[in-house]
Amino acid sequence: MENEVKLAAGAMVALAVATTALVVLPYIQVRDVQAPEGLKPYTSAELRGREVYISNGCVYCHSQQPRDRSFGPDTERGWGRASVPADYVYDKPHLLGSMRTGPDLFNIGARQPSQDWHLGHIYQPRAYVPGSIMPSYPFLFDVKPKAEEGDVVLKLPPGTVPEGRVVVARPEALDLVRYLQGLNHTYPVLPPQPRGAAAPATAATPAPAPAAAASAAAS
Ligand code: HEC
Repeated sequence: MENEVKLAAGAMVALAVATTALVVLPYIQVRDVQAPEGLKPYTSAELRGREVYISNGCVYCHSQQPRDRSFGPDTERGWGRASVPADYVYDKPHLLGSMRTGPDLFNIGARQPSQDWHLGHIYQPRAYVPGSIMPSYPFLFDVKPKAEEGDVVLKLPPGTVPEGRVVVARPEALDLVRYLQGLNHTYPVLPPQPRGAAAPATAATPAPAPAAAASAAAS
């Protein structure tokens, strides 16, 4: 009997240690994180667009987590600074992603603000990036003989639209593009404080101006 007791006790301890390391400690680290000043909550249109992003599986090919220089050349790729926990306070569920078949999209709104480009690229990626392996999403658009009042007509490169037809964006496509345009986390954040240092209230306090950031870091 003694061995069974030891086995059960050992299993309990192992489980407790793992739960503490993987659940409790990370929770304590990020529970008080507050939104940086530069980060705006999602608008209704952006939230709807986020749903379209999720339901069409964009997250399976696109990450939203530029990494630190020590992990990879994401900054050199133009994907922006390394993300910090505070960047994700409004993200439920988060869309970090684990595959990078396509580029990281955490700052796509800053990199590519054009609505026309996004709509056209979602309708037919190969019209913009020859050889692109991104799927096209034609079901987010209507192809019709003539645009009606209020339609958003796509300005596509010649040869993409059948002769005598126009492609207009459905509301889902417009929401999705609003969401992509809103993906802009280029506001400044201070690097995480070393443990034990006089840390600011949040893990990532926005720096109002470079000069202020420098003096804050020096103090
Ligand atoms: C099968 C993988 C795959 C899926 C799924 C996918 N993409 Fe892509 N995406 C790519 C690849 C590869 C590229 C790079 C080539 C290009 O620009 O077309 C890309 C490029 C992009 C770009 C341009 C990025 C840049 O830095 O220029 C955007 C924006 C984008 N995708 C949005 C989306 C959205 C929105 C969805 C979902 C509706 C989606 N993608 C689904 C693979 C994918």
